[in-house]
Formats: sequence, C-alpha cells, structure tokens
Amino acid sequence: MTGTLHIVGLGPGGAEHRTPAAARAVAEAEVVVGYGAYVDMVEDLLGAAQRVVRGVMGEEERRADEALVLAAEGARVALVSSGDAGVHGMAARTLARAAELDAGERPEVVVVPGVSAAQAAAAVAGAPLTDDFAVVSLSDIHMSWDRIEHRLRALAASGIAIALYNPRSSRRTEGFDRAVAILREARGDDGPVVLAHDVTRPGEAVRRTTLGALDPERVTMRTVVLVAGDTARDAGPWLVAVRGAAAVRA
Ligand SMILES: C[S@@+](CC[C@H](N)C(=O)[O-])C[C@H]1O[C@@H](n2cnc3c(N)ncnc32)[C@H](O)[C@@H]1O
Repeated sequence: MTGTLHIVGLGPGGAEHRTPAAARAVAEAEVVVGYGAYVDMVEDLLGAAQRVVRGVMGEEERRADEALVLAAEGARVALVSSGDAGVHGMAARTLARAAELDAGERPEVVVVPGVSAAQAAAAVAGAPLTDDFAVVSLSDIHMSWDRIEHRLRALAASGIAIALYNPRSSRRTEGFDRAVAILREARGDDGPVVLAHDVTRPGEAVRRTTLGALDPERVTMRTVVLVAGDTARDAGPWLVAVRGAAAVRA
C-alpha cells in the first residue's frame, strides 16, 4: 500500500504568508522532510508524534528519494520547500524521480503551491512584476555559468523585469558582478533595482537602488533582487510596471 507525498511550498518565511493548504499538509503529515532551515519554518505546526527528517543543503536529490521511499512505504509525507516548491524548489526534481518509479509503487504526489520570494518582494516595493517578468537563479551548482549568462543576456535585451534568485554568497561573488555588468550594458545605470532581504521574516529589509549604484555587499543568499523592466516607473512611493505603458527605459 502506498501513501501520499505532499511537496509543499511554505511561502517566503512568515507564517501569515503560508497558505492554509500548506499548513494542513504539514500538520497532517506523519513524516516531515526538508532542509533544516525550512523545517524551522513549520516548527509551530509540528506535533510530538511526527517524525522529522532534517536535510542539508546540496542533498536535494537524496531528500527527494527519502521522501518518496517513505511515502511509497505507506506514510503521509510532507516534503517542505521555501516559497513555491515549483520555483527553484523541490518540486521538479522530486516529480522527475517519482516518474521513474513503477506505477504500482508510486505514491500519490500532490504539489502544494506557495508564495514565491519574488512575489513577496514585489508586494513590498509596489507592483514591479505586473508586466512580464522572468525568474533567474544565479546558482551554478546544477547549471554552468555560461548557460546562465546566455539566458541573462537574452533577458537583459528583452526589457522584461527579472527576479534574481540565489544571487550571491560569500564564496560565490563573481557571478553577481557579471550579472550586474550584463544588465547595466543592456539597460543603463538608471534601471531601478529592488534588493529584498529576508522578506516577511524578522529583519526584513527592502531597499530601492539602481543598476549603477547597486552595492553588491548588500546582496546575500537571503536576498531576492528585482531588476525593473522597461515599463517600470515610480508611482508615489511605489515602483509599478504598467503593461501597455510606453517603455520608460530603452
Ligand atoms: C533555493 S531558492 C528558493 C526559492 C523559493 N522556492 C521561492 O519560490 O521563493 C533560494 C533563494 O530564494 C530567495 N528567497 C527565498 N526566500 C526569501 C526571502 N524571504 N527573502 C528574500 N529572498 C528570498 C533568495 O534569493 C534565495 O537565495
């Protein structure tokens, strides 16, 4: 008999931005599996009877397999991910592994959507992602930098807004500098940028800057960087991108 695996997007951090469906999937699970920091985000939902499997960064595949095996053995499992599990989260990797199982051994798998960091950051800044936007991860762990740069160049030239995930770590600083240089080249120094750090978490800091004035030292792995598109403009205290408006920037 197989069980159920919920792949759960927990939202950007604060419990009030977690959906009721996500909370229910975690509260009703017999086993909760996740990277340690994400398990910490659901501490308020966990009961003494639940088994918790805390994983480490970089072992996503192992975590996916572990959750699938437990569910295939009959357990109700919640595999937790931050933000939306389908946006640089655990969903694709886990579904791909699930598809490799024989249909009879495959547990029921449900993906529970969540609020992604870019959406939460945009809401604080105004509505800079209302017109078209793209999400790009600058992490080169699973993809070569050349490929990331190729995508970034095409997007920079397109004029749409870009949310940069996994932008810069203490070890990996060069990629972010390259990304900013590519964006400046295509969009000029005045292009508005939002640096959103720890959105909806304690210590939240959301700052407006420009491509030319951006201080990389303010950017960490807990920052999502929103690079405004060509229709973005100031509207009072807000940054907004009005679809159909004339392009403000070349
Ligand atoms: C592995 S990705 C996970 C993204 C997540 N699945 C989502 O939809 O938001 C981790 C990156 O998301 C961004 N991020 C996630 N939560 C954030 C938050 N609360 N504030 C700022 N950035 C966040 C950061 O860029 C971080 O390096």
